[in-house]
Amino acid sequence: MILPVIMAGGTGSRLWPMSRELYPKQFLRLNGDQSMLQDTITRLADLNVSEPLLICNEQHRFLAAEQLRQINQLSNNIILEPMGRNTAPAIALAALSSTKNGDDPILLVLAADHVIDDIVSFHNAVHAAVPLAEQGKLVTFGIVATGPETGYGYIQRGDSFGDSAFNVKRFVEKPDLPTATEYLASGEYYWNSGMFLFSAKRYLEELGEFRPDILAACQLAIADVKIDSVQDFIRVDLEAFSACPDESVDYAVMEKTTDAVVIPLDAGWNDVGSWSALWEVNEHDDNGNALTGDIFTHKTTNCYINTDDTLVAAIGVENLVIVNTKDAVLVIDKSQVQDVKKVVEFLKSND
Ligand code: GDD
Ligand code: MG
Repeated sequence: MILPVIMAGGTGSRLWPMSRELYPKQFLRLNGDQSMLQDTITRLADLNVSEPLLICNEQHRFLAAEQLRQINQLSNNIILEPMGRNTAPAIALAALSSTKNGDDPILLVLAADHVIDDIVSFHNAVHAAVPLAEQGKLVTFGIVATGPETGYGYIQRGDSFGDSAFNVKRFVEKPDLPTATEYLASGEYYWNSGMFLFSAKRYLEELGEFRPDILAACQLAIADVKIDSVQDFIRVDLEAFSACPDESVDYAVMEKTTDAVVIPLDAGWNDVGSWSALWEVNEHDDNGNALTGDIFTHKTTNCYINTDDTLVAAIGVENLVIVNTKDAVLVIDKSQVQDVKKVVEFLKSND
């Protein structure tokens, strides 16, 4: 059986001011009626998988449970982390809790904040991946790289493996710009989509091989799991987990394993990591504007505007991002959106 593991513990700071510490990106409705988390789960319908296991930060437990309830999902399959330790430990907790009874489910590890347009292609890629995971492979889904993005992991394709996959020759997490440019030019690289499929035990084996410190800390943290009696949350031990190193699955396992394979995925995938990416995936008016909320525009082109309650009027501007919330307004050139992080850093330093 496939067990979807949904990682929902990120901060989404590049989507400030909508995405906040208490209400990060994955819980926002940024592309339609449902939140990104809800879309992630709804996208699994017809795939014949078990109830998803969600793993998120403790401070978002009610938000997460409520959003699951809204889409008729059980809300007692939520592991709560007392603090973020990145994705390698998060997946380890999920793998450990799902193998407790001696089972070894195939984990479909998903980020809670991606957009995928073509669900059929996504499902086909998952179906193709299952037999490979059953053979002990760690499957990644590779997106054809279209620019030298430095915010992604890069996967170099090796020989073909079966009908639909390739051996991974090399996996490089977030290379610098010259390296990414070189990779792109070679035509042999995919972007890592950040979604994986592997057997729970196989992941734990590889983690134990490359990062026994992370595995040991997670084993300790989940050894004596407490099930919250009111809400049925799965809580991990604060002290043990806080001693766990902070590391992503990409650095901890995917860069090091020799057993990774990649399945190419062409499914309109977007990780919506910035306001300009959101502009790209949202619907546009005739002037290329993506507008959410009460907005008046005149002679305005290629802008992204999102407002909570109050009217926003934009006249004679182009390529701007304008985001208006109750307590903060962002106005930024669409080409500079990566620097939103600077506001968040500034606000943190003034806390
Ligand atoms: N539970 C939990 N705990 N989830 C986490 C944590 C954590 O400590 N940290 C991050 N996540 C979740 C995020 O909410 C997101 O859904 C997912 O894990 C990936 O984390 P990001 O922080 O968004 O990673 P990234 O975008 O920088 O990089 C990853 O994704 C890229 C594609 O979007 C990597 O896998 C890259 O290689 C990949 O290209
Ligand atoms: Mg991301």
